[in-house]
Amino acid sequence: MPKDLSNILVNISATLKDVLATLDKNARGVVFIADDNQVMRGILTDGDIRRALLNGAQITDSAERHMNRNFVAGSVNSNRTENLALINEVIRNVPVLNNEGHVVDVVLWTDFWRLPVMEPVLKGKETEYVLDCLATNWISSQGKYVERFQDAFAEYHSVAHALCVSNGTAALHLAMAALELGCDDEIIVPDLTFVAPASMAVLCGAKPVFVDVDRTTWTIDPAAIEDRITPKTKAIVPVHLYGHPCDMDPIMVIARKHNLYVIEDCAEALGAEYKGRKVGTIGDIGAFSFFANKVITTGEGGMVTTSSLDLHRKMQLLRDHGMTREKRYWHQVAGFNYRLTNLQAAIGLAQMERINEFLEYREEIVARYDRQLKNIKGIILPPREKWAKNIFWLYSIIVDENESGIGRDILMAQLAGQGIDTRPFFYPLHSQPPFSYEANRTFPNSDWLASSGLSLPTSNNIKLEDVDKVCADIISITNSTNIINTLKAR
Ligand SMILES: Cc1ncc(COP(=O)(O)O)c(C=O)c1O
Repeated sequence: MPKDLSNILVNISATLKDVLATLDKNARGVVFIADDNQVMRGILTDGDIRRALLNGAQITDSAERHMNRNFVAGSVNSNRTENLALINEVIRNVPVLNNEGHVVDVVLWTDFWRLPVMEPVLKGKETEYVLDCLATNWISSQGKYVERFQDAFAEYHSVAHALCVSNGTAALHLAMAALELGCDDEIIVPDLTFVAPASMAVLCGAKPVFVDVDRTTWTIDPAAIEDRITPKTKAIVPVHLYGHPCDMDPIMVIARKHNLYVIEDCAEALGAEYKGRKVGTIGDIGAFSFFANKVITTGEGGMVTTSSLDLHRKMQLLRDHGMTREKRYWHQVAGFNYRLTNLQAAIGLAQMERINEFLEYREEIVARYDRQLKNIKGIILPPREKWAKNIFWLYSIIVDENESGIGRDILMAQLAGQGIDTRPFFYPLHSQPPFSYEANRTFPNSDWLASSGLSLPTSNNIKLEDVDKVCADIISITNSTNIINTLKAR
């Protein structure tokens, strides 16, 4: 299907200022210039404009004066593969012309190359184990892989019990149900997180109460927790955000002092450590997610961990319809079906067999990002406290617009124009409709991070040269924006 050309085509009478406005909108770094008869006459890139302005051109000059008249173009008479073959690292957007020389389509670098934020790597024994499930007919939630996956997970964490569930949200719901969170209870949740811990609390009938995050670790600020504890508070949910552990010691001290449970939300932090202890083993219950963008995946899936036999048994009962193991169809309590299938567990086991490999490679990715991004003005690198092993679920940065001269959203749009997928941080929970009762409170750190944070591609198998490409693009976009901002202000 031909693409919308309105953001890439400009008329020959446009000024450099008009072209810059179009470049801001299209985030492709290039415009095609056509005459009044719609015939393509030239091309202008943001680099061309920057160089022209540095050489004394005026922002009010006509685009025609500075455009490149020699350009590469595809043809309607060529097939898609032939037109795509014109794209390379330097020529990233190619107009497709008809026999009259009119631009009728455009071939984009992003048709050719796209780097996702995260993609699963299923190159271990996943296929072998799944085929075994199919061959033996054990495709539902009974079968040897369920036990083996749970055992491998418990062993990796040196924790007594691990119980697999259908997803990370179910893991949180199950943990809350086992702790009998209900009406009249309050639960403390960081204001900056994926919504699941707060929404599951609501679905238990309880009220999530938000606490701001720490500006440095991006995770719940222990110093702000006690202010929000009331006689109704029943639990705290520290979320190990983007792979960095929360400062657990003070959280546990507060929890014990006020007789509160702690559910660690480890969805984003499998393998992260706090003072040498794996996350998910410090509080009463750990909840994990194996969605396809997580460090290991089962497609959809999750796990709860605990060292308490009592909590483990409660969660097992609730996971399986509240049905006792001893007596089939005898339901001791009302429960859920939150089981994981043997097929999914087979994938999970194969993934767990590679967890150390995944995490070691991530360290290389992170070192590569760090090295290249550390000197960009206004870009703040992800946290790493001395006591923490951050596993950098997604390598995430903060764009301080005052310092960098570029807003987070513009940077994301420009990277998307180069085929690089990114994610903005979560919206603060207090700003979202289900939690409007918290809207009038202030959460300055959460607000700041939410509006300026973004995550960069961090797949377990991302090529190191692709990391270099992301860094080179960020450097080039920030440099270019700074120069153009300065020149525009002249
Ligand atoms: C912090 C956090 N908690 C919970 C979840 C929910 O996990 P799932 O998507 O497996 O339900 C996520 C998912 O992204 C998450 O990031």
